[in-house]
Amino acid sequence: MSSSNSSSELVNGFGRVIGVGSYLPKNILTNDDLAKIVETNDQWITERTGIKTRHISDPEVDTTESMAIAAAKAAVKDAGIDPLEIGLVIVACTTPNVLFPALSTSVQAAVDADNAMCFDMNAACPGFLTAFVTAQNYIKAGTVDCALVVGAENLTNYVNFEDRGTCILFGDGAGAVVLRSEKDQQYDAIMRAAGKRGECMHCESVMQKGREMTEEFRKATYINMDGQTVFKFAVTEVPKVIEDLLGRTGTDADDIDYFILHQANRRIIESVAKRLKQPIEKFPMNIEKTGNTSSASIPILLDEMKQQGLLGQGNKKIVVSSFGAGLLWGAFQTEI
Ligand code: UT7
Repeated sequence: MSSSNSSSELVNGFGRVIGVGSYLPKNILTNDDLAKIVETNDQWITERTGIKTRHISDPEVDTTESMAIAAAKAAVKDAGIDPLEIGLVIVACTTPNVLFPALSTSVQAAVDADNAMCFDMNAACPGFLTAFVTAQNYIKAGTVDCALVVGAENLTNYVNFEDRGTCILFGDGAGAVVLRSEKDQQYDAIMRAAGKRGECMHCESVMQKGREMTEEFRKATYINMDGQTVFKFAVTEVPKVIEDLLGRTGTDADDIDYFILHQANRRIIESVAKRLKQPIEKFPMNIEKTGNTSSASIPILLDEMKQQGLLGQGNKKIVVSSFGAGLLWGAFQTEI
C-alpha cells in the first residue's frame, strides 16, 4: 500500500509497534530432563547460562509455520487493525519446516493480509532484528504503511541431543509485531556483519547431492557452535554497537528505559549491562523459561513485557540488540 502523501512532501514516519503476540509450545524440557540425556546438571546449566527450562515443539502439534501463524494472529489481534492494512509480511526464520513457498506467504494467508507483499529472511538469531530494520525502511520509504514482522524457530529439530555444549541452550517458539507508520516516530539502527568470522556457528543442509551420510556429515547437519568464541564476540560487539547507536542518536544510556537483548545467555546480558554501566533491572529477561529461541527471542520477550504492563504508549525509550551466526549483530532504538 503506497503512501497517499503529496510528492513534494514525504511525511511517512517510521513504524510504531502497535501490536505484539507470541506462541510457545506446551512441552517443557527441564535441566533435569537434559541431565538424563547428556552428562550435565541443573547447577552447571543455571550458573553458566541462566536457563532452567525451555519450551520444545510437539511434532504432533507444532511446526515452524504453525507457531509463526499463532504469533502473527495474536499480534494482529492485539493491534486491532483490519489485516488488509498490512502491506508487508516478513518472517525471520532459520529453521523452516518448508523451504518454499516462503513461510511469510502462509502467515499472510492465515491472517488474511491479502494486500501484503511477503518474504522470509534468514539471519539466524538476529533475524527478527534484521526483519524489523528492513520493515522500518520499507515504511519510511513510503512503500508500505503497515508491516507484520515475525520471528519463528523450531530449533530443536536441529539440536544434536548428544552435544551437551549446545543442546542445553535452545528452545522453540515464535513472536510477532505489527508496525504502523507514525509521523513523529523516533527510530534508528545499526547493523553489522563479519562473514569472515562465521565458522564458529554453522549448520549444514542435509539435502546435498553427492554427500555421503558419514558420521562427520551427520553431525554437521545439527547446530554446531564454538560457544566460547560466540560468547567473546557477543560481550565485545554488543555493547560497542549499542554505544555507537546511542552516540548517533545523541541519547544518554541513562535515558533508555529498557535494553532488550537477544536471550542467549544471562551472563552475556549481565556483561553488557556492566559495560554500559546500567542497572540489570533495565535488561528484561525470560531466558530462564524459554532458553535461546533465536530469531523468536526478542518478540517473545516484547509480548511478555506487554503482558506485564512494561511497555508504554509510545513513551518508553528502548534499545533492542541481537547477535548470532554469520557473524551478524546490530541494534535499533525506538519508542514504544
Ligand atoms: O544465539 C547466539 C548463539 N550462541 C550463544 O550465544 C552461545 C554463547 N556461548 C555460551 O553461552 C557459552 O559459551 C556456553 C554456555 C555454550 C558454554 O559455557 P562456557 O562457560 O563457555 O563453558 P566452556 O565451553 O568453556 O566449558 C567449560 C567446561 C568444559 O569442561 P572442561 O574442559 O573445563 O573440563 C566443558 O566440557 O564445561 C564443560 N561443559 C559442560 N559441563 C556440564 C560444557 N557444556 C557442559 C554442560 N554441562 N552442558
